[in-house]
Amino acid sequence: MGALKMLPVCLLLAAVCLQGSLLQEAGTRDQRKPFFERFRRLEEQFRRFQEVTLLRLQGIAGNYNISYNIDTRFQHLADQYDTVANALNMSHAALREDLGFLKTWMKKLQRRTKKLASKLSALAESLSESHKQSSVERLHRNTLQKELESLRETSRSQGTKLEALEQQLKNTLHKEVLASGHHELAVAQRLNQTPQDKLPEAGGSQGHSVKKLSSPMCSEQAVTVAFSLPSPVCNVDSMLLFPNASTENFATFGQGFQTGLHELSVCSWVSTHARSLGTILSYATEENDNKLVLHGRNTAALASIHFVIGDPAFRELPVGQLLDGRWHHMCVIWSSIQGKYWFYVDRRLASTGSKFQEGYEIPPDGSLVLGQEQDVVGGGFDPSEAFVGRLAGLAIWNRTLMPGEVSSIAIGKGLPRGTILKLADVSSLNGSIQKVNCTCLERCL
Ligand SMILES: *[C@@H]1O[C@H](CO)[C@@H](O)[C@H](O)[C@H]1NC(C)=O
Ligand SMILES: *[C@@H]1O[C@H](CO)[C@@H](O)[C@H](O)[C@H]1NC(C)=O
Ligand SMILES: *[C@@H]1O[C@H](CO)[C@@H](O)[C@H](O)[C@H]1NC(C)=O
Ligand SMILES: *[C@@H]1O[C@H](CO)[C@@H](O)[C@H](O)[C@H]1NC(C)=O
Ligand SMILES: *[C@@H]1O[C@H](CO)[C@@H](O)[C@H](O)[C@H]1NC(C)=O
Ligand SMILES: *[C@@H]1O[C@H](CO)[C@@H](O)[C@H](O)[C@H]1NC(C)=O
Repeated sequence: MGALKMLPVCLLLAAVCLQGSLLQEAGTRDQRKPFFERFRRLEEQFRRFQEVTLLRLQGIAGNYNISYNIDTRFQHLADQYDTVANALNMSHAALREDLGFLKTWMKKLQRRTKKLASKLSALAESLSESHKQSSVERLHRNTLQKELESLRETSRSQGTKLEALEQQLKNTLHKEVLASGHHELAVAQRLNQTPQDKLPEAGGSQGHSVKKLSSPMCSEQAVTVAFSLPSPVCNVDSMLLFPNASTENFATFGQGFQTGLHELSVCSWVSTHARSLGTILSYATEENDNKLVLHGRNTAALASIHFVIGDPAFRELPVGQLLDGRWHHMCVIWSSIQGKYWFYVDRRLASTGSKFQEGYEIPPDGSLVLGQEQDVVGGGFDPSEAFVGRLAGLAIWNRTLMPGEVSSIAIGKGLPRGTILKLADVSSLNGSIQKVNCTCLERCL
Protein backbone atom coordinates (compact mmCIF):
# COMPACT_ATOMS: atom_id res chain seq x y z
CA MET A 1 0.00 0.00 0.00
CA GLY A 2 2.62 2.62 0.98
CA ALA A 3 4.55 1.97 -2.24
CA LEU A 4 1.53 2.57 -4.42
CA LYS A 5 0.83 6.00 -2.72
CA MET A 6 4.30 7.14 -3.20
CA LEU A 7 4.44 6.45 -6.99
CA PRO A 8 2.80 9.71 -8.35
CA VAL A 9 4.82 11.83 -6.02
CA CYS A 10 7.86 10.14 -7.25
CA LEU A 11 6.87 10.53 -10.85
CA LEU A 12 6.18 14.25 -10.25
CA LEU A 13 9.47 14.66 -8.52
CA ALA A 14 11.22 12.78 -11.27
CA ALA A 15 9.68 15.06 -13.89
CA VAL A 16 10.65 18.21 -12.06
CA CYS A 17 14.03 16.82 -11.52
CA LEU A 18 14.34 15.89 -15.18
CA GLN A 19 13.18 19.30 -16.42
CA GLY A 20 15.52 21.13 -14.06
CA SER A 21 18.35 19.02 -15.15
CA LEU A 22 17.47 19.62 -18.83
CA LEU A 23 17.24 23.40 -18.39
CA GLN A 24 20.38 23.40 -16.43
CA GLU A 25 21.96 21.40 -19.18
CA ALA A 26 20.91 23.86 -22.04
CA GLY A 27 21.81 26.92 -20.13
CA THR A 28 25.01 25.62 -19.37
CA ARG A 29 25.70 24.33 -22.84
CA ASP A 30 24.88 27.27 -25.15
CA GLN A 31 23.79 30.15 -22.93
CA ARG A 32 23.29 33.10 -25.56
CA LYS A 33 22.84 31.76 -29.13
CA PRO A 34 19.90 29.42 -28.54
CA PHE A 35 18.07 32.17 -26.67
CA PHE A 36 18.31 34.56 -29.63
CA GLU A 37 17.54 31.76 -31.94
CA ARG A 38 14.58 30.91 -29.93
CA PHE A 39 13.60 34.62 -29.73
CA ARG A 40 13.93 35.00 -33.47
CA ARG A 41 11.90 31.92 -33.98
CA LEU A 42 9.38 33.19 -31.53
CA GLU A 43 9.34 36.59 -33.25
CA GLU A 44 8.79 34.85 -36.57
CA GLN A 45 6.12 32.75 -35.09
CA PHE A 46 4.46 35.92 -33.69
CA ARG A 47 4.68 37.68 -37.06
CA ARG A 48 3.17 34.67 -38.74
CA PHE A 49 0.46 34.62 -36.10
CA GLN A 50 -0.06 38.34 -36.61
CA GLU A 51 -0.52 37.81 -40.33
CA VAL A 52 -2.85 34.93 -39.86
CA THR A 53 -4.75 36.86 -37.24
CA LEU A 54 -4.96 39.87 -39.51
CA LEU A 55 -6.17 37.68 -42.34
CA ARG A 56 -8.54 36.05 -40.00
CA LEU A 57 -9.61 39.42 -38.66
CA GLN A 58 -10.11 40.68 -42.17
CA GLY A 59 -12.06 37.57 -43.03
CA ILE A 60 -14.01 38.02 -39.87
CA ALA A 61 -14.47 41.67 -40.71
CA GLY A 62 -15.54 40.68 -44.21
CA ASN A 63 -17.74 38.06 -42.76
CA TYR A 64 -18.94 40.58 -40.26
CA ASN A 65 -19.68 43.03 -43.12
CA ILE A 66 -21.54 40.25 -44.87
CA SER A 67 -23.35 39.41 -41.69
CA TYR A 68 -24.00 43.14 -41.23
CA ASN A 69 -25.29 43.24 -44.74
CA ILE A 70 -27.38 40.21 -44.03
CA ASP A 71 -28.57 41.91 -40.91
CA THR A 72 -29.56 45.05 -42.76
CA ARG A 73 -30.93 42.94 -45.50
CA PHE A 74 -32.77 40.93 -42.94
CA GLN A 75 -33.93 44.13 -41.32
CA HIS A 76 -34.93 45.36 -44.72
CA LEU A 77 -36.67 42.08 -45.36
CA ALA A 78 -38.32 42.28 -41.98
CA ASP A 79 -39.43 45.81 -42.77
CA GLN A 80 -40.67 44.68 -46.12
CA TYR A 81 -42.45 41.79 -44.45
CA ASP A 82 -44.01 44.23 -42.01
CA THR A 83 -45.08 46.50 -44.84
CA VAL A 84 -46.47 43.58 -46.77
CA ALA A 85 -48.14 42.26 -43.62
CA ASN A 86 -49.56 45.68 -42.90
CA ALA A 87 -50.75 46.04 -46.44
CA LEU A 88 -52.22 42.59 -46.26
CA ASN A 89 -53.77 43.41 -42.92
CA MET A 90 -55.16 46.62 -44.35
CA SER A 91 -56.43 45.00 -47.47
CA HIS A 92 -57.81 42.23 -45.29
CA ALA A 93 -59.54 44.84 -43.13
CA ALA A 94 -60.80 46.62 -46.23
CA LEU A 95 -61.97 43.32 -47.61
CA ARG A 96 -63.70 42.55 -44.34
CA GLU A 97 -65.35 45.95 -44.46
CA ASP A 98 -66.38 45.41 -48.05
CA LEU A 99 -67.70 42.03 -47.13
CA GLY A 100 -69.72 43.54 -44.29
CA PHE A 101 -71.13 46.18 -46.59
CA LEU A 102 -71.93 43.54 -49.16
CA LYS A 103 -73.68 41.49 -46.51
CA THR A 104 -75.90 44.36 -45.33
CA TRP A 105 -76.59 45.28 -48.94
CA MET A 106 -77.55 41.71 -49.67
CA LYS A 107 -79.87 41.75 -46.66
CA LYS A 108 -81.46 44.99 -47.79
CA LEU A 109 -81.85 43.57 -51.28
CA GLN A 110 -83.44 40.47 -49.86
CA ARG A 111 -85.85 42.59 -47.81
CA ARG A 112 -86.70 44.69 -50.85
CA THR A 113 -87.20 41.65 -52.98
CA LYS A 114 -89.50 40.24 -50.32
CA LYS A 115 -91.50 43.46 -50.19
CA LEU A 116 -91.72 43.55 -53.98
CA ALA A 117 -92.82 39.96 -54.05
CA SER A 118 -95.55 40.62 -51.48
CA LYS A 119 -96.65 43.70 -53.42
CA LEU A 120 -96.71 41.69 -56.62
CA SER A 121 -98.77 38.96 -55.04
CA ALA A 122 -101.16 41.59 -53.62
CA LEU A 123 -101.44 43.12 -57.09
CA ALA A 124 -102.08 39.76 -58.64
CA GLU A 125 -104.71 39.10 -55.99
CA SER A 126 -106.45 42.45 -56.58
CA LEU A 127 -106.24 41.83 -60.32
CA SER A 128 -107.95 38.52 -60.03
CA GLU A 129 -110.42 40.19 -57.65
CA SER A 130 -111.19 42.94 -60.17
CA HIS A 131 -111.46 40.31 -62.86
CA LYS A 132 -114.06 38.59 -60.71
CA GLN A 133 -115.75 41.95 -60.16
CA SER A 134 -115.80 42.72 -63.86
CA SER A 135 -117.45 39.40 -64.47
CA VAL A 136 -119.92 40.36 -61.74
CA GLU A 137 -120.42 43.65 -63.58
CA ARG A 138 -120.97 41.76 -66.78
CA LEU A 139 -123.56 39.71 -64.98
CA HIS A 140 -125.16 42.95 -63.76
CA ARG A 141 -125.13 44.35 -67.27
CA ASN A 142 -126.76 41.23 -68.61
CA THR A 143 -129.47 41.48 -65.95
CA LEU A 144 -129.90 45.16 -66.76
CA GLN A 145 -130.14 44.42 -70.45
CA LYS A 146 -132.82 41.82 -69.79
CA GLU A 147 -134.72 44.29 -67.62
CA LEU A 148 -134.41 46.92 -70.34
CA GLU A 149 -135.76 44.50 -72.92
CA SER A 150 -138.71 43.62 -70.74
CA LEU A 151 -139.28 47.35 -70.23
CA ARG A 152 -139.20 47.89 -73.96
CA GLU A 153 -141.69 45.07 -74.36
CA THR A 154 -143.96 46.74 -71.80
CA SER A 155 -143.64 50.09 -73.55
CA ARG A 156 -144.47 48.46 -76.88
CA SER A 157 -147.60 46.89 -75.44
CA GLN A 158 -148.46 50.24 -73.90
CA GLY A 159 -147.97 51.83 -77.32
CA THR A 160 -150.62 49.54 -78.80
CA LYS A 161 -152.88 50.33 -75.83
CA LEU A 162 -152.27 54.00 -76.53
CA GLU A 163 -153.21 53.57 -80.17
CA ALA A 164 -156.41 51.83 -79.18
CA LEU A 165 -157.14 54.63 -76.71
CA GLU A 166 -156.48 57.24 -79.36
CA GLN A 167 -158.74 55.45 -81.79
CA GLN A 168 -161.48 55.53 -79.14
CA LEU A 169 -160.77 59.19 -78.44
CA LYS A 170 -160.85 60.02 -82.11
CA ASN A 171 -164.23 58.35 -82.47
CA THR A 172 -165.67 60.22 -79.49
CA LEU A 173 -164.05 63.40 -80.75
CA HIS A 174 -165.53 62.97 -84.17
CA LYS A 175 -168.96 62.54 -82.63
CA GLU A 176 -168.42 65.53 -80.35
CA VAL A 177 -167.18 67.75 -83.18
CA LEU A 178 -170.23 66.86 -85.16
CA ALA A 179 -172.45 67.43 -82.14
CA SER A 180 -170.94 70.74 -81.04
CA GLY A 181 -170.68 72.16 -84.54
CA HIS A 182 -166.86 72.37 -84.68
CA HIS A 183 -166.53 73.93 -81.28
CA GLU A 184 -162.79 73.99 -81.39
CA LEU A 185 -162.10 75.53 -78.01
CA ALA A 186 -164.02 72.93 -76.06
CA VAL A 187 -162.26 70.15 -77.88
CA ALA A 188 -158.91 71.74 -77.38
CA GLN A 189 -159.56 72.08 -73.68
CA ARG A 190 -160.43 68.42 -73.46
CA LEU A 191 -157.27 67.64 -75.34
CA ASN A 192 -155.12 69.61 -72.92
CA GLN A 193 -155.07 66.35 -71.05
CA THR A 194 -153.92 64.07 -73.82
CA PRO A 195 -153.38 60.43 -72.91
CA GLN A 196 -149.62 61.00 -73.11
CA ASP A 197 -149.65 63.39 -70.17
CA LYS A 198 -151.09 60.69 -67.97
CA LEU A 199 -149.27 57.63 -69.20
CA PRO A 200 -145.94 56.74 -67.61
CA GLU A 201 -143.09 57.66 -69.89
CA ALA A 202 -141.64 54.38 -70.97
CA GLY A 203 -138.36 53.84 -72.82
CA GLY A 204 -137.43 57.41 -73.72
CA SER A 205 -134.17 58.59 -72.21
CA GLN A 206 -134.38 61.74 -70.09
CA GLY A 207 -138.11 61.27 -70.08
CA HIS A 208 -138.49 62.41 -73.70
CA SER A 209 -141.03 59.85 -74.88
CA VAL A 210 -141.58 58.99 -78.51
CA LYS A 211 -145.01 59.07 -80.04
CA LYS A 212 -145.43 57.28 -83.32
CA LEU A 213 -146.43 59.75 -86.02
CA SER A 214 -148.30 57.11 -87.95
CA SER A 215 -150.89 56.89 -85.20
CA PRO A 216 -154.57 57.55 -86.05
CA MET A 217 -154.17 60.95 -84.34
CA CYS A 218 -152.28 62.18 -87.39
CA SER A 219 -155.23 62.08 -89.68
CA GLU A 220 -155.95 65.42 -91.34
CA GLN A 221 -158.86 66.43 -89.16
CA ALA A 222 -157.32 65.28 -85.89
CA VAL A 223 -154.14 67.28 -86.53
CA THR A 224 -155.99 70.52 -87.14
CA VAL A 225 -157.92 70.16 -83.97
CA ALA A 226 -155.80 68.11 -81.62
CA PHE A 227 -152.48 69.91 -82.11
CA SER A 228 -153.89 73.38 -81.70
CA LEU A 229 -152.45 75.22 -78.74
CA PRO A 230 -154.80 76.31 -75.98
CA SER A 231 -155.68 79.97 -75.81
CA PRO A 232 -154.54 82.31 -74.61
CA VAL A 233 -150.83 81.46 -74.92
CA CYS A 234 -148.86 84.11 -73.08
CA ASN A 235 -145.35 84.97 -71.82
CA VAL A 236 -144.35 85.38 -75.45
CA ASP A 237 -142.40 88.67 -75.07
CA SER A 238 -142.15 89.64 -78.75
CA MET A 239 -142.57 88.60 -82.38
CA LEU A 240 -140.53 89.14 -85.56
CA LEU A 241 -142.29 89.36 -88.92
CA PHE A 242 -140.30 88.35 -91.99
CA PRO A 243 -142.50 89.75 -94.80
CA ASN A 244 -140.86 88.21 -97.88
CA ALA A 245 -137.98 86.03 -99.10
CA SER A 246 -135.58 88.97 -99.51
CA THR A 247 -132.04 88.29 -98.29
CA GLU A 248 -132.16 91.79 -96.76
CA ASN A 249 -134.38 90.45 -94.01
CA PHE A 250 -132.46 89.10 -91.08
CA ALA A 251 -132.01 89.63 -87.38
CA THR A 252 -128.70 89.34 -85.53
CA PHE A 253 -127.65 89.07 -81.91
CA GLY A 254 -124.98 91.34 -80.46
CA GLN A 255 -122.88 88.30 -79.73
CA GLY A 256 -123.17 84.59 -80.32
CA PHE A 257 -122.68 82.00 -77.61
CA GLN A 258 -120.27 83.16 -74.94
CA THR A 259 -119.13 79.63 -74.10
CA GLY A 260 -118.92 76.40 -76.04
CA LEU A 261 -122.16 74.40 -75.93
CA HIS A 262 -122.49 70.69 -75.18
CA GLU A 263 -126.23 70.88 -74.71
CA LEU A 264 -128.75 73.07 -76.41
CA SER A 265 -132.49 73.74 -76.63
CA VAL A 266 -134.03 76.12 -79.17
CA CYS A 267 -137.75 76.86 -78.85
CA SER A 268 -140.02 79.23 -80.73
CA TRP A 269 -143.57 79.77 -81.84
CA VAL A 270 -143.73 79.71 -85.61
CA SER A 271 -146.38 80.63 -88.12
CA THR A 272 -145.91 80.56 -91.89
CA HIS A 273 -147.93 80.30 -95.04
CA ALA A 274 -144.87 79.37 -97.07
CA ARG A 275 -144.57 75.98 -98.74
CA SER A 276 -141.29 75.35 -96.91
CA LEU A 277 -140.13 76.46 -93.51
CA GLY A 278 -136.88 78.07 -94.65
CA THR A 279 -134.18 78.96 -92.15
CA ILE A 280 -135.11 79.60 -88.53
CA LEU A 281 -131.54 80.29 -87.46
CA SER A 282 -127.95 79.80 -88.52
CA TYR A 283 -124.76 80.00 -86.47
CA ALA A 284 -121.43 80.40 -88.25
CA THR A 285 -117.79 80.73 -87.25
CA GLU A 286 -114.76 81.50 -89.40
CA GLU A 287 -113.88 77.82 -89.27
CA ASN A 288 -117.30 76.47 -90.31
CA ASP A 289 -120.30 78.44 -91.60
CA ASN A 290 -122.71 75.73 -90.44
CA LYS A 291 -121.99 75.14 -86.78
CA LEU A 292 -125.69 75.07 -85.90
CA VAL A 293 -128.44 75.48 -88.48
CA LEU A 294 -132.17 74.90 -88.65
CA HIS A 295 -132.94 75.35 -92.31
CA GLY A 296 -135.12 74.22 -95.13
CA ARG A 297 -134.98 74.97 -98.84
CA ASN A 298 -138.06 75.64 -100.91
CA THR A 299 -136.78 73.23 -103.57
CA ALA A 300 -136.10 70.34 -101.20
CA ALA A 301 -138.59 67.94 -99.64
CA LEU A 302 -141.03 70.51 -98.32
CA ALA A 303 -142.10 68.69 -95.20
CA SER A 304 -138.66 68.59 -93.61
CA ILE A 305 -135.79 70.81 -92.55
CA HIS A 306 -132.17 70.02 -91.80
CA PHE A 307 -130.96 70.22 -88.24
CA VAL A 308 -127.20 70.73 -88.70
CA ILE A 309 -124.66 70.54 -85.88
CA GLY A 310 -121.07 70.92 -87.04
CA ASP A 311 -121.52 70.57 -90.83
CA PRO A 312 -121.71 68.06 -92.46
CA ALA A 313 -123.52 66.27 -89.62
CA PHE A 314 -127.31 66.81 -89.80
CA ARG A 315 -130.63 65.18 -89.09
CA GLU A 316 -133.90 65.66 -90.96
CA LEU A 317 -136.80 67.01 -88.92
CA PRO A 318 -140.43 66.58 -90.04
CA VAL A 319 -142.09 70.02 -90.16
CA GLY A 320 -145.16 69.28 -92.25
CA GLN A 321 -147.43 70.13 -89.31
CA LEU A 322 -145.95 73.63 -89.08
CA LEU A 323 -146.82 74.72 -92.62
CA ASP A 324 -150.49 75.58 -92.17
CA GLY A 325 -150.32 79.30 -91.41
CA ARG A 326 -151.32 78.78 -87.75
CA TRP A 327 -149.23 79.23 -84.66
CA HIS A 328 -147.27 76.18 -83.60
CA HIS A 329 -144.67 75.67 -80.95
CA MET A 330 -141.45 73.89 -81.80
CA CYS A 331 -138.44 72.84 -79.71
CA VAL A 332 -135.18 71.37 -80.96
CA ILE A 333 -133.07 69.79 -78.21
CA TRP A 334 -129.61 68.29 -78.50
CA SER A 335 -127.18 66.70 -76.04
CA SER A 336 -123.55 66.16 -76.96
CA ILE A 337 -123.18 64.11 -73.80
CA GLN A 338 -125.81 61.60 -74.92
CA GLY A 339 -125.33 62.16 -78.66
CA LYS A 340 -129.13 62.52 -78.92
CA TYR A 341 -131.67 65.01 -80.24
CA TRP A 342 -135.38 65.55 -79.69
CA PHE A 343 -137.79 67.55 -81.87
CA TYR A 344 -141.06 68.68 -80.31
CA VAL A 345 -144.03 70.19 -82.14
CA ASP A 346 -146.84 71.50 -79.97
CA ARG A 347 -145.59 69.66 -76.88
CA ARG A 348 -145.37 66.32 -78.60
CA LEU A 349 -142.21 64.54 -79.59
CA ALA A 350 -142.27 64.52 -83.40
CA SER A 351 -138.81 63.06 -83.92
CA THR A 352 -135.82 61.85 -81.95
CA GLY A 353 -132.54 60.10 -82.64
CA SER A 354 -129.20 59.08 -81.25
CA LYS A 355 -125.55 58.93 -82.33
CA PHE A 356 -125.78 62.57 -83.36
CA GLN A 357 -122.56 64.50 -82.72
CA GLU A 358 -121.79 62.80 -79.43
CA GLY A 359 -118.93 64.66 -77.72
CA TYR A 360 -119.16 67.64 -80.08
CA GLU A 361 -118.96 71.22 -78.81
CA ILE A 362 -120.65 74.11 -80.56
CA PRO A 363 -117.90 76.74 -80.33
CA PRO A 364 -118.44 80.19 -78.81
CA ASP A 365 -118.19 83.64 -80.44
CA GLY A 366 -119.84 82.80 -83.74
CA SER A 367 -122.40 84.81 -85.69
CA LEU A 368 -126.04 83.96 -84.93
CA VAL A 369 -128.58 85.04 -87.55
CA LEU A 370 -132.36 84.58 -87.57
CA GLY A 371 -134.19 84.04 -90.86
CA GLN A 372 -131.22 83.50 -93.20
CA GLU A 373 -128.72 80.76 -93.88
CA GLN A 374 -125.11 82.03 -93.75
CA ASP A 375 -122.66 80.76 -96.34
CA VAL A 376 -120.01 83.05 -94.88
CA VAL A 377 -119.94 84.63 -91.44
CA GLY A 378 -122.79 87.19 -91.39
CA GLY A 379 -123.64 86.85 -95.08
CA GLY A 380 -123.82 84.74 -98.22
CA PHE A 381 -127.59 84.42 -97.89
CA ASP A 382 -129.76 82.50 -100.33
CA PRO A 383 -133.39 83.68 -100.90
CA SER A 384 -134.52 80.10 -101.46
CA GLU A 385 -133.53 79.37 -97.85
CA ALA A 386 -135.00 82.53 -96.29
CA PHE A 387 -137.71 82.35 -93.65
CA VAL A 388 -141.01 84.03 -94.47
CA GLY A 389 -143.51 84.32 -91.68
CA ARG A 390 -143.58 84.99 -87.95
CA LEU A 391 -141.24 83.93 -85.18
CA ALA A 392 -142.40 84.58 -81.61
CA GLY A 393 -140.81 84.09 -78.19
CA LEU A 394 -137.72 82.45 -79.59
CA ALA A 395 -135.30 81.41 -76.84
CA ILE A 396 -132.13 79.32 -76.52
CA TRP A 397 -130.96 77.31 -73.48
CA ASN A 398 -127.53 75.79 -72.86
CA ARG A 399 -129.14 72.63 -71.47
CA THR A 400 -131.66 70.01 -72.52
CA LEU A 401 -135.24 70.88 -71.60
CA MET A 402 -137.43 68.20 -70.02
CA PRO A 403 -140.72 67.23 -71.70
CA GLY A 404 -142.61 68.95 -68.89
CA GLU A 405 -140.68 72.16 -69.49
CA VAL A 406 -141.36 71.98 -73.23
CA SER A 407 -145.07 71.61 -72.50
CA SER A 408 -145.14 74.47 -70.03
CA ILE A 409 -143.48 76.83 -72.52
CA ALA A 410 -145.82 75.74 -75.34
CA ILE A 411 -148.94 76.53 -73.34
CA GLY A 412 -147.56 79.92 -72.33
CA LYS A 413 -146.46 79.39 -68.73
CA GLY A 414 -143.15 81.17 -69.25
CA LEU A 415 -139.55 80.23 -69.88
CA PRO A 416 -137.77 77.85 -67.51
CA ARG A 417 -134.37 78.82 -66.09
CA GLY A 418 -131.14 78.79 -68.07
CA THR A 419 -131.88 80.80 -71.24
CA ILE A 420 -128.72 82.12 -72.87
CA LEU A 421 -130.45 84.11 -75.65
CA LYS A 422 -133.97 85.46 -76.25
CA LEU A 423 -135.65 87.58 -78.94
CA ALA A 424 -135.16 90.50 -76.55
CA ASP A 425 -131.39 90.11 -77.09
CA VAL A 426 -131.67 90.69 -80.86
CA SER A 427 -129.39 93.65 -81.51
CA SER A 428 -130.22 94.58 -85.09
CA LEU A 429 -133.09 94.09 -87.52
CA ASN A 430 -132.28 94.38 -91.20
CA GLY A 431 -134.39 94.77 -94.28
CA SER A 432 -138.14 94.99 -93.79
CA ILE A 433 -138.36 92.87 -90.65
CA GLN A 434 -140.95 94.14 -88.17
CA LYS A 435 -140.74 93.62 -84.44
CA VAL A 436 -143.89 93.58 -82.33
CA ASN A 437 -144.07 93.53 -78.54
CA CYS A 438 -146.70 91.01 -77.55
CA THR A 439 -147.39 89.25 -74.27
CA CYS A 440 -149.86 86.72 -75.65
CA LEU A 441 -149.65 84.93 -78.98
CA GLU A 442 -153.14 86.10 -80.03
CA ARG A 443 -151.79 89.68 -80.07
CA CYS A 444 -148.64 88.90 -82.09
CA LEU A 445 -150.01 89.87 -85.51
C1 LIG B 1 -18.92 46.74 -45.35
O1 LIG B 1 -20.24 47.10 -45.72
C2 LIG B 1 -20.43 48.51 -45.98
C3 LIG B 1 -21.97 48.75 -46.24
O2 LIG B 1 -22.58 47.62 -46.55
C4 LIG B 1 -19.57 48.90 -47.14
O3 LIG B 1 -19.73 50.27 -47.36
C5 LIG B 1 -18.10 48.57 -46.82
O4 LIG B 1 -17.26 48.84 -47.90
C6 LIG B 1 -17.94 47.10 -46.50
N1 LIG B 1 -16.55 46.83 -46.06
C7 LIG B 1 -15.84 45.80 -46.57
C8 LIG B 1 -14.50 45.70 -46.06
O5 LIG B 1 -16.29 45.01 -47.39
C1 LIG C 1 -53.63 43.73 -38.01
O1 LIG C 1 -54.39 44.82 -37.52
C2 LIG C 1 -55.05 44.53 -36.31
C3 LIG C 1 -55.88 45.73 -35.97
O2 LIG C 1 -56.35 46.34 -37.10
C4 LIG C 1 -54.01 44.19 -35.26
O3 LIG C 1 -54.70 43.87 -34.07
C5 LIG C 1 -53.16 43.06 -35.71
O4 LIG C 1 -52.14 42.82 -34.80
C6 LIG C 1 -52.53 43.38 -37.03
N1 LIG C 1 -51.76 42.27 -37.52
C7 LIG C 1 -50.64 42.45 -38.18
C8 LIG C 1 -49.98 41.19 -38.64
O5 LIG C 1 -50.15 43.56 -38.40
C1 LIG D 1 -139.68 92.54 -99.82
O1 LIG D 1 -140.47 93.59 -99.25
C2 LIG D 1 -139.86 94.84 -99.31
C3 LIG D 1 -140.76 95.85 -98.57
O2 LIG D 1 -141.99 95.35 -98.27
C4 LIG D 1 -139.65 95.25 -100.75
O3 LIG D 1 -139.02 96.51 -100.81
C5 LIG D 1 -138.79 94.20 -101.46
O4 LIG D 1 -138.69 94.50 -102.82
C6 LIG D 1 -139.40 92.84 -101.30
N1 LIG D 1 -138.45 91.87 -101.81
C7 LIG D 1 -138.80 90.78 -102.41
C8 LIG D 1 -137.73 89.90 -102.90
O5 LIG D 1 -139.99 90.50 -102.58
C1 LIG E 1 -125.32 78.03 -69.09
O1 LIG E 1 -125.14 79.43 -69.16
C2 LIG E 1 -125.11 80.07 -67.92
C3 LIG E 1 -125.03 81.57 -68.16
O2 LIG E 1 -124.09 81.87 -69.16
C4 LIG E 1 -123.92 79.57 -67.12
O3 LIG E 1 -123.88 80.13 -65.84
C5 LIG E 1 -124.02 78.04 -66.98
O4 LIG E 1 -122.88 77.56 -66.34
C6 LIG E 1 -124.17 77.41 -68.34
N1 LIG E 1 -124.39 76.00 -68.17
C7 LIG E 1 -123.74 75.09 -68.89
C8 LIG E 1 -124.12 73.68 -68.63
O5 LIG E 1 -122.93 75.42 -69.74
C1 LIG F 1 -128.24 95.74 -90.82
O1 LIG F 1 -128.79 96.77 -90.02
C2 LIG F 1 -127.87 97.50 -89.29
C3 LIG F 1 -128.63 98.51 -88.45
O2 LIG F 1 -129.71 97.89 -87.80
C4 LIG F 1 -126.89 98.21 -90.22
O3 LIG F 1 -125.93 98.87 -89.47
C5 LIG F 1 -126.23 97.18 -91.12
O4 LIG F 1 -125.39 97.80 -92.07
C6 LIG F 1 -127.26 96.33 -91.81
N1 LIG F 1 -126.59 95.26 -92.54
C7 LIG F 1 -126.91 94.91 -93.75
C8 LIG F 1 -126.12 93.82 -94.37
O5 LIG F 1 -127.85 95.44 -94.34
C1 LIG G 1 -141.00 96.73 -76.82
O1 LIG G 1 -140.61 96.57 -75.47
C2 LIG G 1 -139.30 97.05 -75.20
C3 LIG G 1 -139.01 96.77 -73.74
O2 LIG G 1 -139.48 95.50 -73.39
C4 LIG G 1 -139.22 98.54 -75.49
O3 LIG G 1 -137.90 99.01 -75.25
C5 LIG G 1 -139.62 98.80 -76.92
O4 LIG G 1 -139.68 100.19 -77.19
C6 LIG G 1 -140.97 98.20 -77.21
N1 LIG G 1 -141.28 98.33 -78.62
C7 LIG G 1 -142.50 98.70 -79.05
C8 LIG G 1 -142.65 98.82 -80.52
O5 LIG G 1 -143.41 98.91 -78.30
